[in-house]
Amino acid sequence: MADIGNIVETAQDLEAPVTVGVEAYISADYVRLERDRLWRKTWLQAGRLEDLPEVGSFITFDILDDSVLVTRTGENEYSAHWNVCTHRGRRLVDTPKGKRNARGLKKNFVCGFHGWTFSNKGTCTHVPEREHWQGKLHDEDINLGPVACDTWGGWVWINLDPDCGSLRDYLEPAASMLDPYQLENMRYRWRKFVVFDCNWKVALEAFNETYHVPSTHPEFMEFGDFPGWARNHGLHSNIGYDAPKDMEENAGKLRVGTGDARVTTAQMQNYTWAAANTNTTQTMVDVANRLVDDLPEGTPNAEVLGYWITRSKQIDADNGVVWPEVPSSHTAQAGTAWQIFPNFQIGHAVNNMLCYMARPYGDDPNKCYFEAAVFQLYPEGEAPETDWEYVEPQDWPPVLQQDFDNMAAVQQGMKSGGFRGTRPNPYRERAIPSLHMNLAKFMGMGAPRVLK
Ligand code: FES
Ligand SMILES: [Fe+2]
Repeated sequence: MADIGNIVETAQDLEAPVTVGVEAYISADYVRLERDRLWRKTWLQAGRLEDLPEVGSFITFDILDDSVLVTRTGENEYSAHWNVCTHRGRRLVDTPKGKRNARGLKKNFVCGFHGWTFSNKGTCTHVPEREHWQGKLHDEDINLGPVACDTWGGWVWINLDPDCGSLRDYLEPAASMLDPYQLENMRYRWRKFVVFDCNWKVALEAFNETYHVPSTHPEFMEFGDFPGWARNHGLHSNIGYDAPKDMEENAGKLRVGTGDARVTTAQMQNYTWAAANTNTTQTMVDVANRLVDDLPEGTPNAEVLGYWITRSKQIDADNGVVWPEVPSSHTAQAGTAWQIFPNFQIGHAVNNMLCYMARPYGDDPNKCYFEAAVFQLYPEGEAPETDWEYVEPQDWPPVLQQDFDNMAAVQQGMKSGGFRGTRPNPYRERAIPSLHMNLAKFMGMGAPRVLK
């Protein structure tokens, strides 16, 4: 095509306007290659440590054709193995019907087919009638296959590539930028999953930019206009809000809107709490609702916000919930959310977070598993018991439904013979070409191209 130039290969290339082809979204061949070139080569977030509360706890994690059994083998020791019996290949631990994954407490795993038994460290401990193999069943061949496993941020991560590098190196610079937020101390408030009629990238790309907010979520515009940026960081990327004109950049995360900030902050908090149940906490909503009583009319916006945050922080601290201190210069750089390559997004804050993950659904490019989880800090022992809940799209919080409404329609549109590839906003949607630039490095195809 006449208007298409060079392949995008570096962070600098991403500063130019680019186009991304549709192959990565709609091609069945691409999906099959993703299994070997992407899912079996990258570090993947496999679950939260709070789902492995004691020695002997286990969870499973499924990614396309593969399933991994993650176990807690010591106080601070976790291990992961291919979830497949070494006898005749039965999936060792089944995912219960309707569940996202298996989860429980077990030190030994007995295969349901013929009773071969494995320890939670992957050792085969029992083979019925082993003598029939005439001494040719060697221990090292019948133990479960090991999978690389490490922890960061309160999650357990796995990598199916036996030659993979370290998790920490892989996650940088996101890990260092997010460490001050002490994400490992947060606990689930809710978590839901669903199957969508779109590729996993379409689902994630509905959340990795702020450009869609005015059109998809017009209600938020009543609180003001909130332009935002997106930046590439190697494999990963992040997004954040531009600073309002009268504030430093570090305040860019606090969206204040126009008019009396005492009123708009309360309105926006109430709306966010009711319609999204994310990005805030009960404490912050309660304090916002008292701003009009607590502060005189005419209090400058920045002071209103400062009071709202300080007061919320104090109330939480009085209840034993201590927000980590993050320097404002750091907050500005960390933005509001990180896209961890390839399929995980962490929307961080000092007292709560909102995470999204999308995974392929079989080898159908037009379907995916999508999941969202909201976390916050709780007083010791007061975090609610939660589990992954399958929830139909129409039963999710309304703001998320607005995002969902675009997904199947985007997938349909991408398959149209008349569509010429996406043209993401180079400033606000840069996380999209950043993803595809990195995908292309693993996949060997589909790199974004510069627009001429
Ligand atoms: S397949 Fe597992 S014991 Fe036979
Ligand atoms: Fe949205």
